[in-house]
Amino acid sequence: MLRKEVIEKYNVPSPRYTSYPTILDWNRTSFDLKEFKQEWQKEFQNLPESQAVSVYIHLPYCESLCTFCGCHKHITKNHLVETPYIDALIREWKLYKAMNNNRNFQVAELHLGGGTPTFFSAGELERLLNVITENTAQQKNFSVEGHPNHTSEEQMSLFYQYGFRRISFGVQDYDATVQKAINRIQSFEQVKYVTDTARKIGFTAISHDLVFGLPFQSMTGLKDSVEKTIALKPDNISLYSYAHVPWVKGTGQRGFSEEDIPKGTEKRALYEMAKAALLKAGYLEIGMDHFGLPTEELAIAMQNAQLNRNFMGYTTAKSERLIGLGASAISEYQFGYAQNLKSIKDYLQALSNNQLPVFKGHIHSPEDHVMKRHIKSLMCNFETEYCEHSILAKQEQQLKNDCQELVDDGILAWENNKLQITQAGKPFVRNVCMQLDPYNRRKALSNRFSQSI
Ligand SMILES: C[S@@+](CC[C@H](N)C(=O)[O-])C[C@H]1O[C@@H](n2cnc3c(N)ncnc32)[C@H](O)[C@@H]1O
Ligand code: SF4
Repeated sequence: MLRKEVIEKYNVPSPRYTSYPTILDWNRTSFDLKEFKQEWQKEFQNLPESQAVSVYIHLPYCESLCTFCGCHKHITKNHLVETPYIDALIREWKLYKAMNNNRNFQVAELHLGGGTPTFFSAGELERLLNVITENTAQQKNFSVEGHPNHTSEEQMSLFYQYGFRRISFGVQDYDATVQKAINRIQSFEQVKYVTDTARKIGFTAISHDLVFGLPFQSMTGLKDSVEKTIALKPDNISLYSYAHVPWVKGTGQRGFSEEDIPKGTEKRALYEMAKAALLKAGYLEIGMDHFGLPTEELAIAMQNAQLNRNFMGYTTAKSERLIGLGASAISEYQFGYAQNLKSIKDYLQALSNNQLPVFKGHIHSPEDHVMKRHIKSLMCNFETEYCEHSILAKQEQQLKNDCQELVDDGILAWENNKLQITQAGKPFVRNVCMQLDPYNRRKALSNRFSQSI
């Protein structure tokens, strides 16, 4: 157990390390499309057609605003937006196919994220899936995010028919005061209904998202939410730390102020309590923020040190290429990263001109490749090992000096050329990554990120 002062000390702004380098350190703030296409084609031209890719599709619409939300979304009740958006996604996919000399991609992993993917009607979703799943790998891992208040049996049956077996539902918290403050009213009965329906249809990996540190959240309230969640026995549970980023997202309809948000040790106690309850109920902790039943795929991958991490969080995907479609979507390749235009209007406009909507990105340096592997290993396995030729070895003495405080505080241990996060230090793995991250080391820490716990 870490001391209170230690917890306070490390509760500093930190990136989530879903990418390395983090998005703020990317080296193409305006990606020249010609350069992007060249890099992309260099990477794809010699790949066999059977080489599998992962696909992420961002579906940004939601019917109402949850005021805690940090996702990239657009609030509307106007469902006329569906058709042009799906048209644009299909066009974007075809542009990638054309760049690939009209060869089809073999899709092994597909994730529909949002916003709220289930904002879209079954008919529009089918139009999209028909095109994207023309050629899929035998071993596939398809997943979708659903809002419990807006996910129908028809939509879930459609996803199942297209090979989806993983579905996650945003629960957040059942406490009435919290739900009112974040403008997200949803009942236990509704969550039970969608969970039972998904199970009846045949989904084998049902996940619930909980968030700790929400405004007005109390120990008793969160305990009750965790117990209700356990009662429904989802295969996975995400326990996200509330990322308070008011300078990024608007404050409209917000039913809380800064003082209503649990912070520091109070927030940490919420996490510890929820984690203890989940472990007691038989869930295993997977990387950061995630829990799974021992029989579940991610939990098995974690136990076999085969967990992977990309922009969607933890995954079992092995593909090194992730094509991101939709407004704000991020793609990940061996050569680097690319992000699509964030504004839906700009995104639609680019595609109506038959232009790839990529606007910024990063091209990896040789050093980036090495550091990316270490950061991923720390985030997934809580340890990393380096060989005598690695850049970590070259910087070893300096790093050891710089990390001494983390060692003294019980967060990090070195064993020869292996860095290990201690059991108690696990919630602070991002602080260790920051200490190793050369971009971060080169600049003074700013307050651009959310708190690390
Ligand atoms: C795109 S939403 C899930 C699908 C659907 N829109 C919903 O809300 O049910 C993704 C998840 O991100 C988490 N999330 C959103 N904003 C967050 C924030 N500011 N801090 C921590 N987690 C957040 C929530 O748990 C949410 O369920
Ligand atoms: S939490 Fe989900 S439903 Fe709520 S605004 Fe964010 S993306 Fe939309």
